[in-house]
Amino acid sequence: MLKIVTIVGARPQFVKAAVLSRVIGDHDDVEEILIHTGQHYDHNMSEVFFDEMEIPKPGYNLDVNGMSHGAMTGQMLEKIEGVLQEEQPDWVVVYGDTNSTIAGALAAKKMHIRVAHVEAGLRSFNMLMPEEVNRILTDRISDILFAPTQTAVDNLKREGYDNIDAEIVLSGDVMQDASHYYAQNSEEKAKLPSEKRSGEFVLCTLHRAENTDNSERLASIVSALNTLNKKIRVVMPIHPRTQKLLEKNNLELTVDLVDPVGYFDMIELLKNCRLVLTDSGGLQKEAYFFEKHCVTMRDETEWVELVKNGYNILTGANEDAILEAAGRMMQQSSDFSSKLYGDSQAGEKILNSLRNIHHK
Ligand code: UD1
Repeated sequence: MLKIVTIVGARPQFVKAAVLSRVIGDHDDVEEILIHTGQHYDHNMSEVFFDEMEIPKPGYNLDVNGMSHGAMTGQMLEKIEGVLQEEQPDWVVVYGDTNSTIAGALAAKKMHIRVAHVEAGLRSFNMLMPEEVNRILTDRISDILFAPTQTAVDNLKREGYDNIDAEIVLSGDVMQDASHYYAQNSEEKAKLPSEKRSGEFVLCTLHRAENTDNSERLASIVSALNTLNKKIRVVMPIHPRTQKLLEKNNLELTVDLVDPVGYFDMIELLKNCRLVLTDSGGLQKEAYFFEKHCVTMRDETEWVELVKNGYNILTGANEDAILEAAGRMMQQSSDFSSKLYGDSQAGEKILNSLRNIHHK
């Protein structure tokens, strides 16, 4: 029996972990135990994904949230260590770049339990982002690095990973597997009223600390969105972080605000929108999976191939740049048949690698 402990905590990790959990479910000789750190805890930031994507119930919920980075990561580290002592898995699998990712990887590594990092090798080259710190440190202590793209493999090689005792596997992107699988019945399963997800609209999300915690950047983005909304409806599922910081800075968004949506609703919004405007990492790719252009309100992106191929434009938080790029991208047409993120078999490839190394 191969025993895997999966560590998740934030919304994008539920989406990514759903893919591997489904593949594991097809194998009787693999056992998976999920640890939910509790980083995201609102029903519509967490439970809705477990329900809709049929992710197995977490074996452990650590309920660590709403505190500073140090306190959060420290508490997670301590609690994860306790669970790993109990479970003694063959592998710990971590996803992406959040505080839950680094806490899980570090707890496991110190106990000499093998660590697999899914979505390895991504770089924004901006060390002021908490995500960049988390992903670099997690990569360095992982035993197997599942890279979603060739760019990610190249980043690792440039950092000298050929001389580090870790295996690099170009797996393709698990988020593409998820998009394809769940898009099959998203229309029947969507809960958002159909008038919200039909007609002409731009889909927008905003939550990155570099935008929300900087009041000037936040004010500039809010102004751009309010102006754009006068021309075309801007539908915006609002992240709790952003909600709190808008209130703190007395800023008002006059766009079509909705509560954070589940995965099926997000797919329907992606299928039907004219354009995606975001600072999320995942949504930039999901725009491409659903053949939509994207304007990214950041100064850099980890998904450089989208920019290189003209699917995505980076604008930072500059109001004029956002409005100009949105106008231009809505007029543009592109061929989306380039397979930038693999063949939607990432889940199978990842499980095969974990099994093969285990049996070596
Ligand atoms: C985290 C990740 C980021 C990821 C994002 C996806 C880190 C450093 N950042 O950012 O990489 O892109 O998740 O959403 O790990 N909150 C709620 N309800 C919730 C969840 C959060 O009210 O369900 C509140 C928290 O209490 C906190 C704020 O929102 O005040 C931000 O949450 P936090 O976990 O710090 O990070 P995110 O901004 O979500």
